[in-house]
Amino acid sequence: MLSQQTIDIIKSTVPVLEQHGVTITKTFYQNMFTEHPELLNIFNKANQQRGRQQTALANTVIAAAKYIDNLEPIVPVVMQIAHKHRALGILPEHYPIVGENLLKAIKQVLGDAATDDIIGAWANAYGVIADVFISVEEDLYKQAEANGGWRLFKPFKVAKKVEENAEVTSFYLVPEDGSKLPPFKPGQYITVRAKAAGEEYVQNRHYTLSQPSNVNEFRISVKREDECDPKGVISTYLHNSLNEGNTIEVSAPAGLFTLDESNNPVLFVSGGIGVTPLNTMLQSMTSGRDVTFVHTARNENVIAFKEQIENKVNELKGTYKTHYSDAEGFITKEVLAPYITANTEIYTCGPAPFMETVISIAKELNVPDEKIHYEFFGPAMTIKALVHA
Ligand code: HEM
Repeated sequence: MLSQQTIDIIKSTVPVLEQHGVTITKTFYQNMFTEHPELLNIFNKANQQRGRQQTALANTVIAAAKYIDNLEPIVPVVMQIAHKHRALGILPEHYPIVGENLLKAIKQVLGDAATDDIIGAWANAYGVIADVFISVEEDLYKQAEANGGWRLFKPFKVAKKVEENAEVTSFYLVPEDGSKLPPFKPGQYITVRAKAAGEEYVQNRHYTLSQPSNVNEFRISVKREDECDPKGVISTYLHNSLNEGNTIEVSAPAGLFTLDESNNPVLFVSGGIGVTPLNTMLQSMTSGRDVTFVHTARNENVIAFKEQIENKVNELKGTYKTHYSDAEGFITKEVLAPYITANTEIYTCGPAPFMETVISIAKELNVPDEKIHYEFFGPAMTIKALVHA
């Protein structure tokens, strides 16, 4: 239990953290990686370079500070982060390393303003928050191990590699030990771990499972990212170097972006490769639910899974619509409004600006927050911060 004095100190430091949060987290990462370079095997270098992880951690620290006497409202966020941590193999022994370096960074950035009382209060608060994460994550490790699953990473063989279009390739992965796969929920992801040529550390990446659960194989569908800056180290490795018969490390399925079990009408709105979780949800559906799929892409050459999606929507007697942004521009309210009724559950996934547009349109059309479901490929806090600003 934290004392009232500690809680008061924590709450009063929120404005200072808001001001210096990002600098503190940047300093924290620099210090931590100098002392513990082995952690570069866990953290996503591209997210570091883009400054995304810094924002995610800073936001969470501030959120925790605001809610430190009642963590209940941030439980959904904790769960989402805990799923990612579990998928990455974050363990209890990692928490003191993060805690020590975070406190050191707070001291370094705030200088004399960081009194012993402030540092002491944060040490206590961090301990409370870390215990919550450790305990939630232990439950998730146990769930991952249940039903024939596994705790950390294990080797999978690439059974099949299929080009879906000019940009997207699917990989069919089977466990090397010949075991059967545990069931997963449509919309969940797996995490792959690999070391690309010329890289010093292994890198982890989360990829949505792009076909419904079956006991024999996982499928992921990966977009080529070799023309962006920085280019996608692991996606390029997968496309260019991981071939049929090769092995890759995989952790058990995780994630909370899954299809609700109501009978409400459902509207899927996908942007580019964000189609993967939505397609898996769609393919898992049986009739009895009204479904619309708005499938957006830049143009016909780069639209993924068109035939499969169209066939399934037809089988479910739903509505399928493509929207090509090169020719038709960005998605608008006029495109989506006809498909939204009072009970519609909206699922959207794609690049951040695309999802922000879809979410704003849904809000404008008075869709309640709990019926707007979305997943952003990257630290989720980034979009939450933007959307709820
Ligand atoms: C109470 C302490 C912690 C908090 C509040 C925290 C917070 C976060 C947040 C907000 C994210 C982004 C989640 C998302 O992508 O949606 C994240 C991801 C991550 N966290 Fe933590 N974390 C904590 C402890 C740790 C520890 C102890 C480690 C391991 C040393 C760790 C390693 C990671 C990694 C590797 C990611 C993935 C992001 C990336 O690589 O880009 N975290 N964490």
